[in-house]
Amino acid sequence: MLVTGGAGFIGSHACVELLDHGYEVIVVDDYANSTPHVFARVERIAGRFVGAVYELDLRDRRALSAVFDRHSVDAVMHFAALKSVSGSLEAPVEYYDTNVGGTTALLRTMHEHGVHRLVFSSSGAVYGDAGPGLLDESAPVRPANPYAASKWLCEQILADVCRRRPEYTVLCMRYFNPAGAHPSGLLGEDPHGVPGNLVPYVAQVAVGRRERLHIFGGDYPTPDGTAIRDYIHVMDTVEAHRVALDHLSDGPGMRVFNIGLGQGSSVLDVVAVFSETCGVQVPYDIVPRRPGDVAHVVADASAVTLAWGWRPARNLADICRDAWRFQQLNPRGYAGAGRGPDSKR
Ligand code: UFG
Repeated sequence: MLVTGGAGFIGSHACVELLDHGYEVIVVDDYANSTPHVFARVERIAGRFVGAVYELDLRDRRALSAVFDRHSVDAVMHFAALKSVSGSLEAPVEYYDTNVGGTTALLRTMHEHGVHRLVFSSSGAVYGDAGPGLLDESAPVRPANPYAASKWLCEQILADVCRRRPEYTVLCMRYFNPAGAHPSGLLGEDPHGVPGNLVPYVAQVAVGRRERLHIFGGDYPTPDGTAIRDYIHVMDTVEAHRVALDHLSDGPGMRVFNIGLGQGSSVLDVVAVFSETCGVQVPYDIVPRRPGDVAHVVADASAVTLAWGWRPARNLADICRDAWRFQQLNPRGYAGAGRGPDSKR
């Protein structure tokens, strides 16, 4: 199994899940928002080694091709991408180039090596500002920022590939807001610099690394005025990916699934549940809206349950508790973490 972006937040948890279930795991990552230190922890949790790790940018097709030459890859989990909404507004070309160009380079390399099975990391962000109510997979797609548009473009490319070439099977996972951490506290979300996402920011305020949370917008058309999202535990997210692998042989073509909890939580809900579950205060200020944000994005995630019998097992309190455990055990994230005696790299 080749995992792109395997050092990242979701990718590293996916590596543990795959190793736990007996898969041979090969990783490529450029460490743009991650660190190789994470693999010692992945291996410690799983009690197994990652097969190989390559530092490369997917757009470097020669280097990527060499990985496919060296290993017998039967399927790919493609997480590698830039994911900040505001970052994408500041640097749209970089976002399209990395996310779309990375995906086309991967597809060309897969094609050259006869690999036709892919689990793609898409996003609930593709739906854009849909208003209240649950979004099923047939809801209109209206990306509200270049990040979301880049994921939608990748989906369209993948759909075209599947239409043209019947040997391809692509499972497109539109996940909503993955957050939380591995229950061991060894793995979690440790972005470079100031976190752009809500839960890691809240955790860094709670641990004293940042002073106050800035809540972007208190004037949304929601019950408490703050924006509503569907937070899904990262462990549930990666379990869904592992279950997806069992369904790569169900038949060719592309299928799209929402991966969410199906419950909306406002920013203030997240702050309240975090404070209550973890017993810490999270001081905050309400500031103007963040450009590119929308009011309400919540999944109707019933299709994946119907198709595969899988449903998430964890809630927002579990997300907060696990994110807090990771933050307390790693107040400075992975910074300074050693590779550990059990890493072979
Ligand atoms: N928010 C704040 N303060 C912060 C950070 C976020 O108020 O410091 C608010 C945002 O304005 C938004 C909500 O918290 O209303 C969630 O924001 P995130 O940045 O955590 O997540 P997004 O909804 O913007 O989603 C993006 C992508 C998803 C991706 C998710 C997690 O659209 O695809 O980040 O990476 F899954």
